[in-house]
Amino acid sequence: MRLDKFLVECGVGSRSEVKKNIAIGKVYVDGAICKDNSRNIDEMKTLIEYAGKKVLYKEFRYYKLYKIDGYITATEDKKEKTVMDLLPEWVNKKDLFPVGRLDKDTEGLLMFTNDGKLAHELISPKKHVDKIYRVILKDEIFQEGIKNLESGVDIGGYITQPAKVEKVSSKEILLNIKEGKFHQVKKMLKAIDNEVIYLKREVFGKLTLEDMVPKEVREIEREDII
Ligand code: URA
Repeated sequence: MRLDKFLVECGVGSRSEVKKNIAIGKVYVDGAICKDNSRNIDEMKTLIEYAGKKVLYKEFRYYKLYKIDGYITATEDKKEKTVMDLLPEWVNKKDLFPVGRLDKDTEGLLMFTNDGKLAHELISPKKHVDKIYRVILKDEIFQEGIKNLESGVDIGGYITQPAKVEKVSSKEILLNIKEGKFHQVKKMLKAIDNEVIYLKREVFGKLTLEDMVPKEVREIEREDII
């Protein structure tokens, strides 16, 4: 892989910052200054130092995105924009895929990784990974509806597992579920004769949106997830 590409993908800086630092001699390859952006390096073996620090190649990578409306959760599509289009250049997209699924019009937290084993665990209903959605409703929600959502509703032949609801206002709730059936939240609200107007995932396992802004991407560590 090219030296500049490797450094950008390791997240040390933007392409222009990386190029500038290579040009001014701040990058060492196997102990010697290297001013050649295009130098071919073996990311598993070559020792790279950037501005005085060793840069380590990571086999598994983890990122979180604040997804916005209008992008489908897929790695590619012929017609629609996908969540991959929201990832900036510094994200190493090789073998990367989204974990779980948010609808085209759903916003909020979406994780990406190239770690298939962890992804499998995270979407397995047995793992009980908490997912908290902020839901804005068409109609007012009452105690009976909340009780039904919490104890389980029929979403087309499937009774949902126990959930938790926090009422924010007459038409807004935080819904905490541990499973992730197709269109689950929308179907749950439909089951109590209401409708989702806006949906945002705010929590996924230990991950939260924190102070992220729409479209922001952050690299995260394995331990931050579950
Ligand atoms: N439930 C839905 O209905 N849609 C989503 O995008 C996520 C959960």
